[in-house]
Amino acid sequence: MSESRQSIHGEWSGRLAFILAATGSAVGLGNIWKFPYITGENGGGAFVLVYLLCVAAIGIPIMVAEIMLGRRGRSTPVNTMTRLAAEAGGSSAWKWLGWMGMLAGFLILSFYSVIGGWALAYVPALGSGAFAGQDAAFVGDQFASLLGSPLTLLAWHTLFMVLTMAVVARGVRGGLEKAVYVLMPGLFVLMLILVGYAMSMGHFARAVEFLFTPDFSKITGTGILIAMGHSFFTLSLGMGAIMIYGSYLPKRVSIARTTFIIAIADTTVALLAGLAIFPIVFSNGLEPGAGPGLVFETLPLAFAHMPGGTIVGTLFFVLLVFAAWTSSISLIEPAVTWLVEKRGMTRIKACLFLGMSAWLLGVGTVLSFNEWSEIKLFGKTFFDSLDFLTTNILLPLGGLLIAIFAGWVLPRQICRDELEMKEQLGFRIWLFLIRYVTPVAIFCVFLNVVGLI
Ligand code: TRP
Repeated sequence: MSESRQSIHGEWSGRLAFILAATGSAVGLGNIWKFPYITGENGGGAFVLVYLLCVAAIGIPIMVAEIMLGRRGRSTPVNTMTRLAAEAGGSSAWKWLGWMGMLAGFLILSFYSVIGGWALAYVPALGSGAFAGQDAAFVGDQFASLLGSPLTLLAWHTLFMVLTMAVVARGVRGGLEKAVYVLMPGLFVLMLILVGYAMSMGHFARAVEFLFTPDFSKITGTGILIAMGHSFFTLSLGMGAIMIYGSYLPKRVSIARTTFIIAIADTTVALLAGLAIFPIVFSNGLEPGAGPGLVFETLPLAFAHMPGGTIVGTLFFVLLVFAAWTSSISLIEPAVTWLVEKRGMTRIKACLFLGMSAWLLGVGTVLSFNEWSEIKLFGKTFFDSLDFLTTNILLPLGGLLIAIFAGWVLPRQICRDELEMKEQLGFRIWLFLIRYVTPVAIFCVFLNVVGLI
């Protein structure tokens, strides 16, 4: 039966298109903006190690499961879960997993767009040559003045949201597929150039040590939660984004192999970002734990001093915008398809409605960097709370449920079918991870944070 199922929203043109779109979704602000600053805040090496372990033992098996469920269900995550639960004889309550995912994606988009707006703002800022030859104090001031101006932030946030919705409104193949072809490799090359430059700065060895020598005294229970949450965030897992992308995946594409490619590309970009940024941090006496502004206060410094820095810098932020753009569209795709399938809205209407709502919520994030910076809930600003709730609670919870569903509810036969695997070693390893390792690990991290272990 599933052989004939097709998504009403379209299909990727092939395996490469899927790899590029999924990598486009995975590689984004999470790799270049978030990974370096949370690594800096959580003490470096030990945090990176936990993050890598989470990608391998939790992220990869869940990505396989999410793509598999998506392709089997061929529908918006809520309907996919309903369909598959029925097929497996499970409870219809599984559809709530789809709901939770849509909510998480929507909430993430609201702040993602604001940070994407920062990247947009830096394109003309670098292009104008204003940074050339400047020092760390100047670069820091520039960033502070951007954050201090709600209206400027709002304008860039608006532009980013419009860009996102313009692509989503066009649907699966319209333009997006082609864009990622050029942009992803471009970003990669530019990252390599930046790392090359960072190597010449003298503090490269210290940066390598900071990133790769684990000092376990520096990691806390919350640090582990953040590392795990980030493994979901960076791979776009736990909310149905990869599930919906999987629903556009043609049959006869190996899910396991594709997943490895995506995970490796994503991890490589994050590590390259770390290797580019931390030498600059150390050689300028900056603070590794500076928070969300880290990238925006370090890389422009490199551009200020390297030959051709204005051009390379502008290009870098253009590519960062594109990386963010190809990610943001996947955040809202599940909700858009739900409105289309269930409410009979046109794609355009669904995008308008969701875009405006997410934009409005984003105003809270904009203000949390200035007017509301002193208003805190449990010691967190509006932005920090939203980030914590989604990345560290909703995504791992979604992942936990996906693992339980794929490992325990869906019959083994269906999994094997959809993964096009026999009872070979790879399949058994995946099943073992998704049944035992992944759920137990997520559960333990949660218990640890609540203080029970
Ligand atoms: N993975 C993207 C990044 O690292 C962000 C992202 C896109 C995402 N889609 C997602 C995060 C779905 C969680 C869930 O920037």
